[in-house]
Formats: sequence, structure tokens, C-alpha cells
Amino acid sequence: MNTTLLMPPQSQNQSIEASVKPRINKVIDDLIASLPNRDLLTSGQRRGIIARYAAVLEGNFIYWMTATLLSVQSEAARPILLENLYEEVRDAHPAMLRRFAIAARAFPNDLDALAVNKELTDVRLFLGQLSAVQSLATMAFFEGFIQKFMAYLADLAVAQGSVEMEYTDVHGVCDIAHTDGLFRALATEQEINPLDPAKDVLEGVYLLRNLIDRIMFSRDEALSD
Ligand SMILES: [Fe+2]
Repeated sequence: MNTTLLMPPQSQNQSIEASVKPRINKVIDDLIASLPNRDLLTSGQRRGIIARYAAVLEGNFIYWMTATLLSVQSEAARPILLENLYEEVRDAHPAMLRRFAIAARAFPNDLDALAVNKELTDVRLFLGQLSAVQSLATMAFFEGFIQKFMAYLADLAVAQGSVEMEYTDVHGVCDIAHTDGLFRALATEQEINPLDPAKDVLEGVYLLRNLIDRIMFSRDEALSD
């Protein structure tokens, strides 16, 4: 018997935030721990990681955040997502990322884009289902991941001879309030637009983790070198 069904809505929401956050943090920590040793990467491998990251993020982060905005019904969740989109557009984060990749001599080519094609499509189609709680979990995961990943990405660019670090500087700032905002939005959304109990709240998190894995370890590494 599912005892959460007997709990008042407020406790259920507190419990979803309390139960989802550590699970997401664990996925982030495992992902960071699995990153290849920077010192052992060849120049081609470093270029490949930066290029695939840029191929995915430049054109998709705003898309993913927009899909999440379209999915939510709770008024409390909207300002958090809008604020994020506003910053992305006003400060031209995609242009920042493009400069970062070019300066690291890692602007993505067709092979870089194709290397992540399947996993990227999986994430797009999933967010297209507009499942609000799952989408919010996915974006909270990405926000948490990116902050911890920026130092690594910056090191790869430095090793490539780059001094253009605005993208990694801006995104490496530990914005705990922002990530917490997404978790709060998730709890609020669960209250008025609950996830089907048969579904896994981390379904999108796992798809996005698979995509990030593919960025780090391309099947076509030899081709992209
Ligand atoms: Fe950004």
C-alpha cells in the first residue's frame, strides 16, 4: 500500500522535494565523478567534449527551458522559469557559448552534432510531452550539474590554449537560490498538477544524463578527433 496517499497534500509536497533532491544530487555527483581525467585527454578528445557540449547546449537550453515553461500550470513556477529565460536571452548566453567554443578551437562540426543525435532527440521528445513535474526535475538536475561542471569545461578550454572564459565564469557561479527555486516550483507544481504515480519523476533526468554521458564519451571519438 502506498502510504503517501494517506498524507495531507502539504506533507506530500514536502516529501517530493525532500525525496527528489537527494536523488538528483546523487546523479550529479556520480556524473561528475565519472568525468574522464583531464590530464589524460588528447587535444582531439578535449576538442570533442567542448564541441559536443556546444552542439547540444547552444541551440537547446532555451528550448528545454521554454518546454518546461509551457508544461507548468502553477503560477509560482512561471516566474522562476521566466527569469531564467530572460537572463539567457538578455545576456545572449548562446552567443557566449559560441565564442567559448570558437576560442577553444572546438566549434562543432557535423560529426559532433551527429554523435549526440539520438540522445538529444530523446530529451527533446521527452520534454515535448510537457510533463511538468518531470520537466522541472530535469531542469533542476541540469542547473545543479552545470555549476559543478564549469571548472572542468574551463580547464579543457585552457588546455586548448583559450583565454575566453566568460561562459564558464557566468555559469560556474554557485546559484543555490536558483536551483532551490526550481525544486520549490517542482513541489508547488506537484500540488496542483501531480505526476502520475506510475511514472518515475527522474525519467527526464536519466535521459539528460545519458545525453551528457554521450558528450563526454562519444561513440565516434575516433571520428571526431
Ligand atoms: Fe545560460
